[in-house]
Amino acid sequence: MTTRVIKISVQDPDAQAIRIAVNVLKSGGLVCFPTETVYGLGADAFNVDAIRKVFEAKGRPSDNPLIVHVGSVRAVRMFVTEVPPKAKKLMSRFWPGPLTLVMQGKRKVPAIVRAGLETVAVRMPNHPAALALIRGLGTGIVAPSANLSGKPSPTTAEHVYADLHDRVDVILDAGATEIGIESTVLDVTAHPPAILRQGGLTKEHIEKVIGRVRTTNARGLLKRSPGTRHRHYAPKARLVIIRSAAEITFPVESGKRVGLIYHSLDPGAMRVEHSRKLSRDVNEFARSLFSAIRELDGLGVDTIFVEKVEKRGIGVAVMQRLMKSAE
Ligand code: TXA
Ligand code: MG
Repeated sequence: MTTRVIKISVQDPDAQAIRIAVNVLKSGGLVCFPTETVYGLGADAFNVDAIRKVFEAKGRPSDNPLIVHVGSVRAVRMFVTEVPPKAKKLMSRFWPGPLTLVMQGKRKVPAIVRAGLETVAVRMPNHPAALALIRGLGTGIVAPSANLSGKPSPTTAEHVYADLHDRVDVILDAGATEIGIESTVLDVTAHPPAILRQGGLTKEHIEKVIGRVRTTNARGLLKRSPGTRHRHYAPKARLVIIRSAAEITFPVESGKRVGLIYHSLDPGAMRVEHSRKLSRDVNEFARSLFSAIRELDGLGVDTIFVEKVEKRGIGVAVMQRLMKSAE
C-alpha cells in the first residue's frame, strides 16, 4: 500500500484531513497520528482484523497488549467494567495527558487488544489532532507507538515514515511531539496502584493525588505487563551510559565509529566525530533524546555514549529507557 502523509497544524487540525483519516479507520485501515508523548499507530479498537494489521506492521509480539485511546472520560465505560475511585481522581486531574490506566476490561474488548489479559489499558491523549480523530471515530483507537518493534519510539512523522511507510495508510504529520517519551502506565487494579512503566507523568505527581503507589519489580512486572520482557528502545548501535567524558572509549579497530549524546559534560579533547548536545533541562532532553538516538544510529556509529541525567522528574523515565537500551 502507498502511505499518504498529510500535514496538519497542531492547534487546529484541518477538518478535511481528520475526515479522511477517520474514514480510513472506519474501513479497517491504519492511521499514524501525533499525541503529546510520541506518535501512535492507530486502528479501530473494535476491529480485530485492523488490530491484527497493527501487530504485523510493527512486528510486535502478540503477548504485548495495546493501549486504547479515548476521546473523553465518559468513553472509558465502553472498555472497562469498573473505574476505581483513585482512577477517577487521576483522570479528572491528569486527563487528557501522559497517564495510562490499567483497569478491568469488558469482555467485548477484543482479546487481541489485551493480549488475553483480563485488564485493559486506557488513556486520553492531550493532542487536538488525536482527540479529533478519536471523537470522529466515536469509540476508541488502539495505538502502540508507531515504530518498528524494538526501535525507539517516533517523535516526528519522519521517524514514523522511516519505520512504517507502505505498511500504514495514513500518517498525520503535526511536527515533533511535545513530551518525547511515552505515557506512564499505572495499574489501578493493584493495591496500592503499581507503576508498570515510568513515563511522561512522574510518580510524585501521581502520589500527590492518590497517595502511595509502588513501582513493580521485574517479576511482578512480567506478570502484569507481559510486553516488558521484549527488547525496547534498542538502536542498532551499542548504547553506553556515561557520567564523564573520560569514560568515552574509542574502539581500536579501524573503521569503528562512536557517537555521543550529552548535556553538561565537556567532550573537549575527546574529538567525537558525531555528537549531539541536548539541553540541560531534563524535559527538553527527554523531548529530543529519541530523535538524537535515531540520527546517530542512521550515521552508522557502532557505539552511542549517552550522558546520564539526574533521576528526578521525567529524568526517572529517561534513565529507565536508557538502561533498557543499554541492556
Ligand atoms: O505514550 C504512549 O503511551 C504511546 C502513545 C502512542 O499513546 N503509546 C505507547 O504504546 O507507548 P506501546 O504499545 O508502545 O506501549 C504500551 C505499554 C506496553 O508496555 C504494554 O505492555 C502496556 O502498555 N500495556 C498495555 N495494556 C496493558 C495491560 N492490560 N496490562 C498491563 N500493561 C499493559
Ligand atoms: Mg512502544
